[in-house]
Amino acid sequence: MREEEEISGRVSLRGFRLRQILIKSSSDMQIIRSVGELTDYVAKQKNNRHSIGFVPTMGALHAGHISLVERAVKENAVTVVSVFVNPTQFNNPEDLATYPRTEEADIRLLAKAGVSAVFVPTVKEIYPDGAHTVKTYDLGSVAEVMEGKHRPGHFQGVAQVVHRLFELVNPDRAYFGEKDFQQIAVIRSMVASEHLDVEIVPCPIRRADDGLALSSRNTLLTPDQRMRAPGIYEALKDSVEYSLNHSVRATHDTVVERIDAIPEMKVEYFEIVDARTLMPVEEWDEASEVQGCITVFNGKVRLIDNIRYR
Ligand code: PAF
Repeated sequence: MREEEEISGRVSLRGFRLRQILIKSSSDMQIIRSVGELTDYVAKQKNNRHSIGFVPTMGALHAGHISLVERAVKENAVTVVSVFVNPTQFNNPEDLATYPRTEEADIRLLAKAGVSAVFVPTVKEIYPDGAHTVKTYDLGSVAEVMEGKHRPGHFQGVAQVVHRLFELVNPDRAYFGEKDFQQIAVIRSMVASEHLDVEIVPCPIRRADDGLALSSRNTLLTPDQRMRAPGIYEALKDSVEYSLNHSVRATHDTVVERIDAIPEMKVEYFEIVDARTLMPVEEWDEASEVQGCITVFNGKVRLIDNIRYR
């Protein structure tokens, strides 16, 4: 029995490698799995004075990721994408265990999008001395609020992996989706405190036709939960007009009440904040740019979204 399993394992591995070779030969995209190979690849690009665009991802790619990739391909001589589900940014083991993994499909999509190299490391490759390093990053107050408060350790994990990837890829520009609005502020903060020479490029949220912000976690929704999920963006969108003649408090409350009334949905937090400092505002004119950031449990699936008010 064990032998059969081993043989079928080897056959499917061989099939997988074969498909990888086919993908590579049809697109020239390099599939890199080790730090050594990546270091050589990056050194070659730097020697040739090629600008490097970088898109870090956790895989389960969708059109939102591909829009970042397409922008990177347009703006740089070479584009590197990483696909790595980073264990240190998950504060909930069940979330890590159920995070969608679709490596083969991801590689196919990236090859089609004109990516030069995809880096698909193991945990050992990224954290050879163990995942929980002693280093903690100075991320400032932007990491203390919202996600920082509700997911302890999450942003230290994000900073840890993004810093490690930036050291390895040494990109000129790195691309991040604005769905993770706070994450961009935290990464900018890490880049400043570590004195890294990389331009952080924020890219607009991509939405499904019904308005739901694209997210790898959407695939975990049941059909009923998926059908009701656009209610989050509808409430946010309508609240922009509502905010024109209502207070910050009233706008906050109308969004929360409307979403909480949808079956299976529960707002974890909704904060209306200064878009630069991420500190809560109480009056609309307290900041020149005001953002509403929300996290909603749709069943067990945690979805985030945000919207600009001013
Ligand atoms: O936004 C994500 O997918 C992740 O947080 C990132 C930036 C790839 C780090 O693991």
